[in-house]
Amino acid sequence: MKLQNFWLLGFMLSTSCSSEGNECDFPDVDNGKIAQYYYIFKKFYFPMKEGSKLSVSCSAGYIFQSGRQEDEITCTSEGWEPPAICFKKCLRPSIPNGFVHNAKELYKPFDTTEYSCHEGFMTTNGDSSETINCTSGQWLPPPGCHQKTDSCETPPLTNGYYVTTRKSFRVMETVQYQCNEGYYTATGTSADWVECLPRGWSSTPSCTKMACGRLETVENGGFYPVKPSYTERDVVQFYCKENYSIKGSELIQCYSFGWDPQPPICEERKNKCPPPPRPAHGILLSSLTLHRVGDKAHYDCDDNYMLIGPEQIHCENGHWTTPPSCVQLKQKIICDKPPQIENGNAVRSLEVYNSGDAIQYKCTDGYEIEGPKEITCKKGKWPEPPKCIVNNKYCLTPPVLIKGELVETPLASYEDGSSVEYKCHSFHLMEGSKTVYCERGAWSDLPKCLKPCTLTAADMKERNLELQWSSDLHSNFLHGDMVEFQCMDGFELPMYTEVKGLCKNGQIQYPTCKKKASLKSCGPPPKVEHSINNSSQEVYESGSLVVYHCSEYHFLNGHSTIQCSNGLWESPPTCIEPCVLSTEEMDRSHVRLKWSVDSNYFLHGEFVDFLCKPGYENYEYAITFGLRGQCRFGYLTYPKCIPRQG
Ligand SMILES: *[C@@H]1O[C@H](CO)[C@@H](O)[C@H](O)[C@H]1NC(C)=O
Ligand SMILES: *[C@@H]1O[C@H](CO)[C@@H](O)[C@H](O)[C@H]1NC(C)=O
Ligand SMILES: *[C@@H]1O[C@H](CO)[C@@H](O)[C@H](O)[C@H]1NC(C)=O
Ligand SMILES: *[C@@H]1O[C@H](CO)[C@@H](O)[C@H](O)[C@H]1NC(C)=O
Repeated sequence: MKLQNFWLLGFMLSTSCSSEGNECDFPDVDNGKIAQYYYIFKKFYFPMKEGSKLSVSCSAGYIFQSGRQEDEITCTSEGWEPPAICFKKCLRPSIPNGFVHNAKELYKPFDTTEYSCHEGFMTTNGDSSETINCTSGQWLPPPGCHQKTDSCETPPLTNGYYVTTRKSFRVMETVQYQCNEGYYTATGTSADWVECLPRGWSSTPSCTKMACGRLETVENGGFYPVKPSYTERDVVQFYCKENYSIKGSELIQCYSFGWDPQPPICEERKNKCPPPPRPAHGILLSSLTLHRVGDKAHYDCDDNYMLIGPEQIHCENGHWTTPPSCVQLKQKIICDKPPQIENGNAVRSLEVYNSGDAIQYKCTDGYEIEGPKEITCKKGKWPEPPKCIVNNKYCLTPPVLIKGELVETPLASYEDGSSVEYKCHSFHLMEGSKTVYCERGAWSDLPKCLKPCTLTAADMKERNLELQWSSDLHSNFLHGDMVEFQCMDGFELPMYTEVKGLCKNGQIQYPTCKKKASLKSCGPPPKVEHSINNSSQEVYESGSLVVYHCSEYHFLNGHSTIQCSNGLWESPPTCIEPCVLSTEEMDRSHVRLKWSVDSNYFLHGEFVDFLCKPGYENYEYAITFGLRGQCRFGYLTYPKCIPRQG
């Protein structure tokens, strides 16, 4: 049977209810165990009623006395039957120069078997065959086949000497030996003798430093090997009789300072304590149901009780030491504030909570409580409160829509996946889906009902607005509508800004008209020499124009019209003086006018053509431009002619 299957069977304990009978505690399985869940839920399953059955399994290498590794034990009036004890099993002994009769691979505890030695060999007892007993996983006496001989040679002996120098002895002959000071024979004496037997020397002569003396006999058990004394490094194995168990170490070793660990004892298995006592208002903290000598049990007291006496007691000689008692406190312990939880809250019914008081928690709609809804304060502290988790089975009444309503009458609860429809009040515009679904306990997002806008005269006045269309005054504007305004007289909006307002969920986004900015006026326009103008005022509004005219023969340089621009006049023109023709200068330069002229005044920039007077000439000028002078800023240049050569 596989182990896994075995555990399953272990659960199929019979619960045939026999009349009021004995109860069996959690079994104490040496080198074995029962199904894991019994350990976890010990308090639930134990003690078991008489007649209950339980499957038990031995650890690897151990078996029940029945020879099985798994067995069933039954709760009887005497306790568990058969006792839940796993013994170490024995392997088939390996015997060189011999053989085991009816050999098996494994032997149960206390099984016996017989072995024989081959021709020419004999057992330890000197026989041809011998019976051995499986004790604590060991074969006793230790089996072995020794060669038959008719003579023995003395083996080398350290820390001692033979009384004779003879080396070879015949069967039946003996030899004596003596150990050096401080050394002893295997029997603990300073001298001994050995006999030559057909299987060899009766024992091997040896002299060792004695470190450990004879071992006391073990009540209800034994040990191996049994020797009158032990030397350093000797190992002794202990075993106990049926229904007894080793208390201490199964193996001990002899050191120069003695045994380590100390030899064990065999303890009666029934040497256990009953379940620990439960004082009134006391709480037993120990989870064990089975207690051995030396085990401890811990206590605490109920809320508002004080522990008097030891907090822990011990199992001694099958009895518990005196347990503590719990005494009621005069004043109750005040608790901290009850812990808060997300998506829910504590339903407070008391102003002050004392130890032992309980408080309930409630979750907000759409959430359900996880864990116990009530928690109790213990010793002034609250345990972990429950949690509120999303209720994903059904939805509660759908939420109320602001400025809207459900199309149908709402129900108290809705199944997952169902839907409801909303509509908005008149003039309200719906944004989002009108259908809302119940999805895993919560309603999907609601639509929005966007409010209409109404105009108020006060709002408009505040922003220097009037309606473009007076018929709009008592209209309802829906969300998204545009209201057309215009600025009141003397007010304006920055350039390119529309005088419009959008209705956005009940709020008109009004523009604001600002008072038109007044531009600065100018004083009298700048004076220009040799000019006349059409100005006559002292103050000119921004934008006013003034026109200049130059006096006769004066040249106008620049624009004749200038403007007052926000307090400043543009640059005015200038009137440049004319040139006057001088006959004296002409005579000095020996020139005369080429063309007759109406006036002796020439405008700035004007050219005047000359000719040389007869008998005079000017090659240079003649070739390039002819004889030419120019009026520049009131000065006329004259070309010069010189008397003709030759
Ligand atoms: C084997 O050893 C046990 C324990 O010492 C003893 O009780 C039992 O009688 C022995 N069996 C035989 C067949 O000698
Ligand atoms: C061991 O204990 C069991 C049950 O208590 C009993 O039946 C059995 O006889 C005992 N064995 C010995 C050797 O006392
Ligand atoms: C404009 O002309 C008048 C005469 O018509 C004169 O008195 C006044 O000074 C002139 N103003 C300027 C700015 O030239
Ligand atoms: C001067 O004359 C111009 C052009 O005729 C005219 O626009 C302007 O208003 C006049 N200015 C004054 C101060 O009369």
